Amino acid sequence: MIDMEDEISLCEQAAGRARQLEARGDFAGAAKAYREAAECMLRYASGVQGKPSEDSKLLAEQLLKKALSCKARQEQPAAADGPALTPPVGDEKRETDKSVQTAETGDPAANSGTFAGSNRSAISRDLKHYNGAARKASAASIEGSVFRPEPPTGVRFSDIAGLEEVKRQVRLKLIEPLKHPELYKRFDKSTNGGILLYGPPGTGKTMIARAVTEEAGLDLFSVCGSDIIGSRFGDGERNLRALFDAARASRHAMIFCDEFEVLAPKRGGRSTVMNRLVPELLMQMDGFVKAEGTLIVMAATNRPWDLDTAVLRPPRISHRIYVGLPDFEARKFLLMHHLEKVPRQFPLDYDWLAVELEGCNCADVVAFVEMLKEPSIQRGLNTGRDEQYLLPEDIDEVLEAFHPSVQAADLEALSRWEASQA
Ligand SMILES: Nc1ncnc2c1ncn2[C@@H]1O[C@H](COP(=O)(O)OP(=O)(O)O)[C@@H](O)[C@H]1O
Ligand SMILES: [Mg+2]
Repeated sequence: MIDMEDEISLCEQAAGRARQLEARGDFAGAAKAYREAAECMLRYASGVQGKPSEDSKLLAEQLLKKALSCKARQEQPAAADGPALTPPVGDEKRETDKSVQTAETGDPAANSGTFAGSNRSAISRDLKHYNGAARKASAASIEGSVFRPEPPTGVRFSDIAGLEEVKRQVRLKLIEPLKHPELYKRFDKSTNGGILLYGPPGTGKTMIARAVTEEAGLDLFSVCGSDIIGSRFGDGERNLRALFDAARASRHAMIFCDEFEVLAPKRGGRSTVMNRLVPELLMQMDGFVKAEGTLIVMAATNRPWDLDTAVLRPPRISHRIYVGLPDFEARKFLLMHHLEKVPRQFPLDYDWLAVELEGCNCADVVAFVEMLKEPSIQRGLNTGRDEQYLLPEDIDEVLEAFHPSVQAADLEALSRWEASQA
């Protein structure tokens, strides 16, 4: 008999590894690890409980989608090639991959057309969401094309390291108009239109979306481009309509679309699916900004040059905001915040460490702190004694092996794209 706990913990380990590899840009490795995680979840879904569990099948499906999305990104030309040389991802390719993947796993759920929205949290937390009472409030999820808002995450602007100018702009454009409508009216300042957050991965784009909805009291409908596309003919359009309908029905909502380039790639390629889906997206975005209520679209991408140009036109996207790497102060803030409770018996030079981590994104800094904890834990396991402390030499060792996940070529490609838009 399969041990349920084993499958869950194997799944969690594989998914954790996948997330790390993805953050480092190793999409081939991430795709493999996501798939491994999905397979564990599938075994759990069908093997343990006697009858297949819909909840864990949904989760497995979500992991498979992440695997496919990483696979598609692996096959894209390197960002270093720059905007002109980076064609959109062909969705025929993606669909072929999907069928290969589902045939390999033999999972009927992967063809079911239902899936959960973007959710980057730990598997066990996801499972808790999917099970029992918490299910109702599960993260912006689609079941039979019904989208639900994400449960409140509690992320505030004060949790976001650095990005002061980004926060100011987002406040000015999204939050203050809701708080001071008269002031905006007095200057006849237009407040509608979507916002594009672009920049390297792991810099806080998703966090900003969450903080905006928390602070503005909006429902957050958070999706990934690859979630929307689906696997069957017409899924993409159906899902898009269902997403915008659900957000409109809430009347006070923000749609946050991650991996926007997957949903809105440049048209004109061989992909008939995308050539149909992008016009539907344009139509939905146009209708959305005119509808009654407070309705905002925020989109995020690491590859803005892949976006269809019509989608970038106001009012669909009225503002583009660059979300960049953390500066010295932001890295120091993150280090202090995450290292505060790590047991140690020596004074830590945060300034020095923040300088050492120059070039890292915020997700790297968080990953670095996680790695710092491992040697002490290993010592505890080896000796059987829990009373362990972080040692100065642990920092040196981890620093030596640690590399920022964002490459100079990624930043150069972003800067070339900005220059081409001027
Ligand atoms: N500006 C930031 N401040 C604090 N933590 C951050 C920041 N940016 C990223 N992180 C950390 O990295 C993780 C991934 O960030 P995310 O917002 O998903 O990045 P992006 O959407 O830009 O890829 C977050 O959960 C958080 O732990
Ligand atoms: Mg994100």
